[in-house]
Amino acid sequence: MGNTGRVAGRASLAGWAGGQACFYNAPVRVPFSRRVPADLAPNRLAALRAAGHTPEIDLTASNPTACGLDVSPALLAPLADPAGLEYRPDPRGLRRAREAVAAEYARFGTAVDPDRILLTASTSEAYAFLFKLLCDPRDAVLVPAPSYPLFEHLARLEAVDAPPYHLDREAGWRLDLDELAEADGRVRAVVVVHPNNPTGSFVHPDDAAALAALAARRGWAVIADEVFLDFPLDGGPGSGRSFAGEAAALTFVLGGLSKSVALPQLKLGWIVLGGPTDLVAAAYERLELVADTFLSVATPVQLAAPALLRDGAAGRAAVLARCRVNLATLRAAAAGVGEVDVLPVGGGWSAVLRIPSVVGEEDLAVELLVEDRVAVHPGYFFDFPADGYLVVSLLPEPTAFAAGIGRVLRRLAAHLVTP
Ligand SMILES: Cc1ncc(COP(=O)(O)O)c(C=O)c1O
Repeated sequence: MGNTGRVAGRASLAGWAGGQACFYNAPVRVPFSRRVPADLAPNRLAALRAAGHTPEIDLTASNPTACGLDVSPALLAPLADPAGLEYRPDPRGLRRAREAVAAEYARFGTAVDPDRILLTASTSEAYAFLFKLLCDPRDAVLVPAPSYPLFEHLARLEAVDAPPYHLDREAGWRLDLDELAEADGRVRAVVVVHPNNPTGSFVHPDDAAALAALAARRGWAVIADEVFLDFPLDGGPGSGRSFAGEAAALTFVLGGLSKSVALPQLKLGWIVLGGPTDLVAAAYERLELVADTFLSVATPVQLAAPALLRDGAAGRAAVLARCRVNLATLRAAAAGVGEVDVLPVGGGWSAVLRIPSVVGEEDLAVELLVEDRVAVHPGYFFDFPADGYLVVSLLPEPTAFAAGIGRVLRRLAAHLVTP
């Protein structure tokens, strides 16, 4: 009975919009918090897709498990370790998993102490833990623009503001340090995404040093999201360098299996702490308390982490090879349409196209979906500074990717002939 009631409640919530819900046919005011948006209406492209405009070719696909990469089922065998029948949780994460994560940083020439690592179920959860650790309600965390759109939601769910600071396109998406220096007293931390999604830009080592000095002076933490650090494409200054070695400011480096070995379904992320010793020790103790409240990381994935990180290197290499092939295809195809620029891609899984102003980016994305059955992201999803950008994933299967890019460029070429 209880269950039926809950399901009925859910069913009425599904159609709800605007502050009223109906449980057991009795109208009640439901006091939802402002952490969840009042307006859950889908954006124009999502609404079209929900209405049946399913793309034949999805150039927004960023789930590596749905992009035809060849992964051996044997990779999952270590999840069946019988030690997983026991539950002996450690809020920091099991030591053998933390040791395996620490060893990963040798690739970036950085020594990491396993006792300065905390495991989470995902990078997204790591953000939530850090916002709880660092911020009171209505404090602020500065986030880059353009960048990954989930920051706004992650912050809002913790009752934290996420005002943007701008990356300078003309300067190769370098940090605007003057703008950062003017930030107000509510700021507790600055997020850098290294390399950034979707611009692919690495944080320049000079900017990293200046940011650490500024953060130390202002008492801010630096949160360095390095989920794409394993995927250098054009590279550039900062490529191959981790923030894990940072000593001047309290620094939290984020990574996870979802990108590093292309296994998002296994749900394992991590935080590496760095910076002044006393501050790091104080932060680690408190983070442990946050993690202890949830104990969200499953035991089998922690036991399997050493094998997954070792054997997952093949999946990482396959993703990198796929991104390189598709980026070369994109550049070759775009070279035939002079007005379209493929911006440099330092690293990551996406490419950005600068398109001529003969058509708005969202209108073009809608035409591509409805007329050509190709899905692309308009730049405003990522908070680009102006109209005129499309973002495509470099993960799709290469034949489909080439065909999809062909349709994008043909439609753009048609607009150029008849503006
Ligand atoms: C920059 C960035 N950070 C974090 C994440 C989320 O990673 P996870 O799957 O570990 O939550 C993503 C996912 O696309 C991302 O693009």
